[in-house]
Amino acid sequence: MTYRQLIRRARKAVLGAALTAALTAGVLTGTATTSQAATQGPCDIYAAGNTPCVAAHSSTRALYGSYGGALYQVRRSTDGATRDIGVLSAGGYADAAAQDSFCAGTSCVITVIYDQSGKGNHLSQAPGGGAAGGPDNLANAFEAPVTVGGHKAYGVYVAPGTGYRNNNTHGIATGDQPEGMYAIFDGTHFNSGCCFDYGNAETSNNDDGNGTMEALYFGNSKAWGWGSGNGPWVMADLENGLFSGVNRGFNANDPSVSNRFPTAMLKGGPNQWALRGGDAQSGSLSTFYNGVRPNAPGYNPMKKQGAIILGIGGDNSKWAQGTFYEGVMTSGYPSDATENAVQANITAAGYTSGSTSTGTLTPGSRVSLQATTAPCCTSQYLRHDDADTKVVISNTNSASSATDKADATWIVRAGLANSSCVSFESTNNPGQFLRHFDYQLYVNTDNGAGSFAQDATFCPTKGNSGTGTSFQSVNFPTKYLRHYNYTAYIAGNGGSNSWDSTTSWAADTSWTVAQPWS
Ligand code: AHR
Repeated sequence: MTYRQLIRRARKAVLGAALTAALTAGVLTGTATTSQAATQGPCDIYAAGNTPCVAAHSSTRALYGSYGGALYQVRRSTDGATRDIGVLSAGGYADAAAQDSFCAGTSCVITVIYDQSGKGNHLSQAPGGGAAGGPDNLANAFEAPVTVGGHKAYGVYVAPGTGYRNNNTHGIATGDQPEGMYAIFDGTHFNSGCCFDYGNAETSNNDDGNGTMEALYFGNSKAWGWGSGNGPWVMADLENGLFSGVNRGFNANDPSVSNRFPTAMLKGGPNQWALRGGDAQSGSLSTFYNGVRPNAPGYNPMKKQGAIILGIGGDNSKWAQGTFYEGVMTSGYPSDATENAVQANITAAGYTSGSTSTGTLTPGSRVSLQATTAPCCTSQYLRHDDADTKVVISNTNSASSATDKADATWIVRAGLANSSCVSFESTNNPGQFLRHFDYQLYVNTDNGAGSFAQDATFCPTKGNSGTGTSFQSVNFPTKYLRHYNYTAYIAGNGGSNSWDSTTSWAADTSWTVAQPWS
């Protein structure tokens, strides 16, 4: 045995012992610590359980303790240049600052989500398919800010029309071969469109029949299966069906998800599959289903084709929305113990929506103000309404028109009435400012009057809900910038106007200061 082989063997032994200890700690006590998260990743745990990752995707962190490569690639709109975004250190978190500086003053999309497993199973722009043409849109790189382990990072924000795929994979299960997978999603970002999926799909981009897919789904579609409550649910997309349990339709054991960061897990082998889930911030996994394959024809044995999709259905159905932070696919059927240890690793990673501000309130900079009220409004931004001078919130995403993006972008100015506060000037109607009149918000031209300056000045404070930033009216300090029925006002927490309603007041008055749309 050479010296190198000896060192490799010693390293393996140390790693194996550490993993066994971590597995035990994770399974028995659920007390994985942050330092464990830094030295081992979910894929080290799957490997120790003899079900290694064959795909590992994340825009927020390394999924192996030793991974020091690129997590994803962004492309900026000004010159089409691309840049790989890596980790701050091997096994660590995304270098979000690299994205911020590369994309400063312009917009960026995520072009590639790299596979960390070494199998080359990278995800890139999905082509057209049987259900819808393509190529699909790419995710705006700034739309899903998140904090992980105290570090700023960005998720993959899938607006309807966005999708990623790899039809030429290596090592992914085909036919009836066993596999496992997990993903962490944004529990507040979903819809009922088909199909916000991550996992195994057809290599043809078409619906090739029952059993040709095995992917995680997240959303509130009731087109095939559903669970208790009103959703959203974690389900299995096995093709021509989202399964919440043994068969299509209602399965009471699949609960509605109310976590900000759900962990979703799916595994499938010969006449056996299981759906599990939990809260990626704390606690253990629950099993929603564990049993035989559906009894409808075609699902036993399975006919998996081994492509990987993100954000779309197997046939490129692209009407769904959601946000993906990380996910892996394994070779082999992971044990519950291995999955429990992976969940402990995930909870130790420290996902929080915490300080998600990505823009700055520095005079001269541009920002967009994103509503934080979930689940209605987190894709909506404060904007002026071209039909009149009113200010509203509405969905804005990478596919929005240039006008819509500009309407939802504001230039920060020193407060017209108080320079330690701020005013917001419209980017596409220069000279017009966000101001209240009779407590409703408008964009109006600054007429130089002192009363206008007062009505157009807002003092940023910590978000009333604990998230983001709130904007206090300088001349009505009990009232804050609020959206109510998708229209903007200054509102008190209780009061004589309908928009002073205490319901959702804290969330409606808390905004994410986001990267500018334009
Ligand atoms: O199984 C649900 C969906 O049905 C699949 O994702 C898609 O390929 C088909 O339209």
